[in-house]
Amino acid sequence: MPGLTTMMALAPPPLSVKRRFSTTSRRNKETPATTMLLLEKRFPCSPHLRRRSWSRRAATATATAICQEQQMMERLAEDGWVDAHMLPLLTPVEEAWQPADLLPSFAASADEQRSQVAELQARAAAVPDDLLVCLVGNMVTEEGLPTYLSMGNRVAGGGDATGCDEHGWARWLRGWAAEENRHGDLLNRYLYLCGRVDMRRVETTVHHLLRRGMRAIPRPSSPYHSLIYGAFQERATFVSHARTAGLAARHGDDCLAKLCGVIAADERRHEAAYTRASARAFEADPDGMVRALAAVMRAKVTMPGELMTDGRDERLFDHFSAVAQRSGVYTAADYGDMVEHFVRRWKVAELGAGLSGEGRRAQDYVCGLPRKIRRMEELAHDRAAQMEAQHVSFSWVFDRPVRIH
Ligand SMILES: [Fe+2]
Ligand SMILES: [Fe+2]
Repeated sequence: MPGLTTMMALAPPPLSVKRRFSTTSRRNKETPATTMLLLEKRFPCSPHLRRRSWSRRAATATATAICQEQQMMERLAEDGWVDAHMLPLLTPVEEAWQPADLLPSFAASADEQRSQVAELQARAAAVPDDLLVCLVGNMVTEEGLPTYLSMGNRVAGGGDATGCDEHGWARWLRGWAAEENRHGDLLNRYLYLCGRVDMRRVETTVHHLLRRGMRAIPRPSSPYHSLIYGAFQERATFVSHARTAGLAARHGDDCLAKLCGVIAADERRHEAAYTRASARAFEADPDGMVRALAAVMRAKVTMPGELMTDGRDERLFDHFSAVAQRSGVYTAADYGDMVEHFVRRWKVAELGAGLSGEGRRAQDYVCGLPRKIRRMEELAHDRAAQMEAQHVSFSWVFDRPVRIH
């Protein structure tokens, strides 16, 4: 490790730095920033100190930015904006569908129950394995809800500190989670009843995913990053469930088509909510938001189920994504379309006066991104066309091979 060795050789002995730091600070009551300046003056050639100083300045700038974002979130809750524009996008509980409305009823007679389950299984028999894999991947992603809720609670000014906070963001977050909770339940019960998948392997995958968590956005506590990610993620899940619904109908499973259709409709409302909130943040702080958008885009919007595994296939998410791409449930082209949609919706190209240099660079990057993604997608498509067919065994469907390329 030559880099580390060089750094250690150039750095002053840790004890002398500590002693000097503490005595000087006590005598003059300096701030940490001025003490750092003194240290830099005394050891001007130390890359170690320069790096520490830079990272401290970067950390201070990040903390200041998040503090400003938090104040904006608090204002939106206090002035009633969240109540007026976000909460109406949640369905009142008594009007909301529940999984029991869409699956065989166990309140019926025993004969009727058997007949309803037999009908569901007969329709599901025609669903091909690649669509089942997409459905299981979507269901596993939905079942990661506890992780996503905990992420929501990390957002500065947008979390639910007590578990029953009364401010608008906390009520939104709980209402959103209550709607999302039905998605995993509904798909889980359909998959259990249809008899086409190995439920133990599917449940093991959910267990692994919840233990592994998620990595999604560069700054989880940033409201801007979180609102932008929410808008992208809800739109991606809308596309995915809506396409699954269309394919299920094409294969004659009207029950599955309906299940995925009602879930897609929920995702649409959630997307509208996060899109509105992001648009409001763009009005309040265009420079901060365009820089946040560029940061989220640079980190790439990854699906929340990215860390899934069944305990056997460490590349399970990649394989599931390849099947989704091949079957048209969710593709790289969809990602390019989404970036283009949000750039247009948030009028990013029209942001002008008031942008900092960094803001303008972020604007250029984001506005040029859809073209770059399209070009990369064309190249990937050409490469895939030249590849030989490749299959992977999915434990979810009893280790049957499913084509990924
Ligand atoms: Fe969902
Ligand atoms: Fe959603």
